[in-house]
Amino acid sequence: MYSLISLAAGLALAGNGPAARAAPADTTFPPAVVALGDSVFHGRAGGGICFTCHGPNAKGTPGLAPDLTDARWLHGDGSYAFLVRTVTTGVPKPREAAAPMPPKGGATLSDLQVRAVAAYVYSLRLAR
Ligand code: HEC
Repeated sequence: MYSLISLAAGLALAGNGPAARAAPADTTFPPAVVALGDSVFHGRAGGGICFTCHGPNAKGTPGLAPDLTDARWLHGDGSYAFLVRTVTTGVPKPREAAAPMPPKGGATLSDLQVRAVAAYVYSLRLAR
């Protein structure tokens, strides 16, 4: 189990530092950060309910929410900054789904949980 300190350090690295803004496309995040994001995504932390719309494997639900594991992005470039922004604001005007995504998917997530779930979504492409 990773200590809280390494988790916090990982998130600082992932979310705030100048290194994060200049992050190359193959950025990886500390396992503890991705693990927290996995828990948020699947409703085990922060009351996150991403999986109810995007599916347990994040491959999307037709008409409800898009695939987050493919290279196709409806609302941005798929960067980590884009993911943090999109999770924070939600998607008030969906392009394909029938209903919007509420801010933070409708959960009350801390900034740390938002950054972690964004890191988790970001990491899915590396597992493809
Ligand atoms: C109520 C259903 C719902 C929940 C819950 C939900 N989303 Fe979404 N999500 C959507 C919809 C709808 C869209 C926009 C689809 C469209 O434009 O057609 C979207 C879009 C996105 C996008 C942008 C996809 C793209 O192709 O640009 C990301 C990233 C995302 N969601 C991540 C998350 C995360 C992470 C969570 C949990 C914190 C979450 N969503 C919770 C419905 C949901």
